[in-house]
Amino acid sequence: MKHLLKLMDLSREDIIGILNLADQLKYEQKHGIAHKRLEGKTLAMIFQKSSTRTRVSFEVGMFQLGGHALFLSNKDIQMGRGEPIQDTARVLSRYCDGIMIRTFAQKEVEDLAEYGSIPVINGLTDFCHPCQVLADLMTIREHKGVLEGLKMCYIGDGNNMANSLIVGGLKTGMAVSVACPKAYSPAPEVLNFAKDFDNFVLTDDIFEAAKDADVIFTDVWASMGQEGEAAERAKAFNGYQVSEQLLQVAKPDCMVQHCLPAHRGEEIDAGVFEAHADEIFDEAENRLHAQKAVMVKLMQNPQ
Ligand code: CP
Ligand code: NVA
Repeated sequence: MKHLLKLMDLSREDIIGILNLADQLKYEQKHGIAHKRLEGKTLAMIFQKSSTRTRVSFEVGMFQLGGHALFLSNKDIQMGRGEPIQDTARVLSRYCDGIMIRTFAQKEVEDLAEYGSIPVINGLTDFCHPCQVLADLMTIREHKGVLEGLKMCYIGDGNNMANSLIVGGLKTGMAVSVACPKAYSPAPEVLNFAKDFDNFVLTDDIFEAAKDADVIFTDVWASMGQEGEAAERAKAFNGYQVSEQLLQVAKPDCMVQHCLPAHRGEEIDAGVFEAHADEIFDEAENRLHAQKAVMVKLMQNPQ
């Protein structure tokens, strides 16, 4: 593994290896065991979109690993004024040991990796959110003990979260059922990947998708960059809510996960959110541990 650009690039073994290391790093951190595996290393973090969890968890994670993280907002670096990503990649490669980027087009992340000479980590694009889904898989495994054989359900927009959950879930042996309005399906290349799995279902019926689920995910109806479509989307997603009624058809011990930020009363009912808050904030915490594992895998002994 040289980069983390999208989960499609990872094997099942890569994913399980990251989850195992994440569990170990979490244990070490909770027990005060030093784990400065990236002493003296620097991570550049480019943000072209807002962030709370990704920014804080990468920066804290890098500190805990003995390294340093640089927050580079689009407003401050020359990329925001049009300096090409290819040049940014080559410059940062001369100073730093890794780059985390949150941006719009997946191609920018792929270009950074192609032109740079250091590991690149995707901190969210319009296409996918691999770091989030590694934390999600870690959280499910922590709560349920296994991944293989469980049923994951996703309700809502066929967005970056849906795309990564489908790939991450299927690669780790979960059954994946997705309910989206027809006009808001996941990306064609993700559906193309999923079509070979007989435990994948795409429907517009939320009750069909949630039936006997072990874990239900949802995400906002309008992602970052789609603020102008919010009203139109609110109409299209009417009825695509994770509610008490929906949970009735899932397994009695079904988990609820949300990558956050959440819009109560839209994609998730406020009561459901609070009833599952411990699982949801475990998920947020696990961003830290899963990303530390990714950084150690990529940056400790880069290939
Ligand atoms: N879930 C997530 O990526 O949160 P942020 O947008 O706050 O980083
Ligand atoms: N789909 C959301 C995820 C935020 C973490 C977005 O892209 O805004």
